[in-house]
Amino acid sequence: MARTLVFEYEGSIAGDLMLMIQDGWAQREAADLAHGTQAELGWALDPALGGKGLATEAVRELIRIAFDELGLRRVTAGAFADNERSTRVMERVGMRREAYNIKESFHRDLGWLDGIEYALLAEEWRTRA
Ligand SMILES: CC(C)(COP(=O)(O)OP(=O)(O)OC[C@H]1O[C@@H](n2cnc3c(N)ncnc32)[C@H](O)[C@@H]1OP(=O)(O)O)[C@@H](O)C(=O)NCCC(=O)NCCS
Repeated sequence: MARTLVFEYEGSIAGDLMLMIQDGWAQREAADLAHGTQAELGWALDPALGGKGLATEAVRELIRIAFDELGLRRVTAGAFADNERSTRVMERVGMRREAYNIKESFHRDLGWLDGIEYALLAEEWRTRA
């Protein structure tokens, strides 16, 4: 739960967000400089509340928290490659597709599926804001 936030709509919980702080890759002698500088984000919305822009608004706020309040330098997010709704959320908030990974994510019913990864840097977000 330390990585989980919830967001509300009209007084009830509408969905949840994940913010998992991670280290950037670095050589051992430079590891301190990369420690805790980035985060993986995730989100899920009550299906009854889909199609109103609530997840997009929540993810925008999550990114603001990551960059403005926590001072992180990079955020990433991943999804199954066929997750079109989540892909549209990532693109609406200005994230960039950086990877398409073949059969890297396991789905309980469908087996190994392709995955996509998106990212955004603090300086890109500030420039656009
Ligand atoms: C991913 C997920 C959150 C997307 O839900 P969503 O309802 O499509 O997203 P939003 O709440 O941001 O709504 C966006 C939709 O509302 C529409 N919309 C209506 N009013 C809007 C507004 N004021 N602002 C923005 N979008 C608006 C948008 O056009 C968009 O529809 P479209 O994608 O058909 O163009 C949802 O499908 C989900 O919870 N999936 C399961 C969990 C999951 O897959 N998580 C991702 C892995 S990390």
